[in-house]
Amino acid sequence: MKRRSTRTFNDEPVTKDELEKILEAALLAPTSMNRKPCNFMVVENKDALVELSQCKDHGADLIAGADKAIVVVADTLVADTWIEDSSIALTYMHLMATELDLGSCWVQVHLRSKDGVDAEEVVKEILKLDPQYRVVGILALGHSDNIPEPYTLDVIDKNKIHFRV
Ligand SMILES: Cc1cc2nc3c(=O)[nH]c(=O)nc-3n(C[C@H](O)[C@H](O)[C@H](O)COP(=O)(O)O)c2cc1C
Repeated sequence: MKRRSTRTFNDEPVTKDELEKILEAALLAPTSMNRKPCNFMVVENKDALVELSQCKDHGADLIAGADKAIVVVADTLVADTWIEDSSIALTYMHLMATELDLGSCWVQVHLRSKDGVDAEEVVKEILKLDPQYRVVGILALGHSDNIPEPYTLDVIDKNKIHFRV
């Protein structure tokens, strides 16, 4: 009910306890056939955050201002459902961050590019990942004074719901 994407962060660090809860949510996420193909790479170093913020042409710059980024790294040799499993884990972390009153935002990597180069390859180079790994996205994370207000249900388009017998 209160989840929103937050793109600006303040200087207050995410605590060890907060980070642990967010990573636990990721580890508890369902995966197809319980194969759990995802690894979660926590990036805290400022230079690395800046590098990640330049991994694609648009929409990743907010990572530079985040306290941490959690890169979801899926092993395609473990599961063919790596897109779905990564997406659910990202969503669970986003929701747990919301629960903890932290700001967070999904940054898409899969299917995006930087100057014509696949953004996944850019991220894999930064993190020195082996070829079988794929990167659906990154969760940018931090405390924020600018978490958008929750939606009220009257602004949500309920015409998306269809009942068919
Ligand atoms: C699959 C997916 C990819 C997204 N990629 C980005 C992104 O690269 N950069 C960004 O700033 N926001 C990204 N977002 C956040 C969306 O822009 C955001 O969810 C949407 O505008 C609705 O706003 P809300 O999350 O506050 O409801 C992404 C969200 C999803 C679910």
